[in-house]
Amino acid sequence: MIKILKPAGWIALFALVVIQFVQPDKNQQGYESVVLFEQETQVSEELGVFLRTNCYDCHSNQTNYPWYSQISPLNYWLEEHIVDGKKHFNVSDWATYSVKKKDHKLDELIEEVEEGEMPLPSYQYVHGCLTSEQKMVLIEWAQMARLNYQEELKVLEL
Ligand code: HEC
Repeated sequence: MIKILKPAGWIALFALVVIQFVQPDKNQQGYESVVLFEQETQVSEELGVFLRTNCYDCHSNQTNYPWYSQISPLNYWLEEHIVDGKKHFNVSDWATYSVKKKDHKLDELIEEVEEGEMPLPSYQYVHGCLTSEQKMVLIEWAQMARLNYQEELKVLEL
């Protein structure tokens, strides 16, 4: 029976078991960190739920981890997306963004959503892609929020 796996196979299996004990730090500081962003951009309750399920996993300091995220090395692959996503756009850091940067990020958001590039393709594969109605709601909300920031910018430039 033991002969089923060659020594190299046992070593690989052993390594796979061992790496299960190595886990990246969890991105879980709670949803309180998104409150400022949601207030400023006037996110409705419904949109808030949508953002939590579709965007905040990679764009806030609170990730809702699926069960398979516990499996190494998949966890490191997911971690990479979270780190990269937050680097580009992190709603939990909203307070540190300038008005100009906020406006610009929302502009990028509209573009990404219009082109179907967000959520990431691998995420869409698991969670499904956005419907055209969901895209429309997101874009309209982002456009409204941008108007406020643009007003603020005009005042700042006076
Ligand atoms: C699985 C992780 C993941 C999810 C979920 C996700 N994103 Fe991203 N997002 C990324 C990564 C990684 C980048 C940076 C690389 C790129 O642009 O492809 C990014 C980039 C962006 C950017 C560009 C910021 C810039 O400065 O260029 C915006 C805006 C954005 N995402 C919005 C969204 C929105 C809105 C959603 C939900 C509908 C979403 N993302 C869901 C990972 C994710």
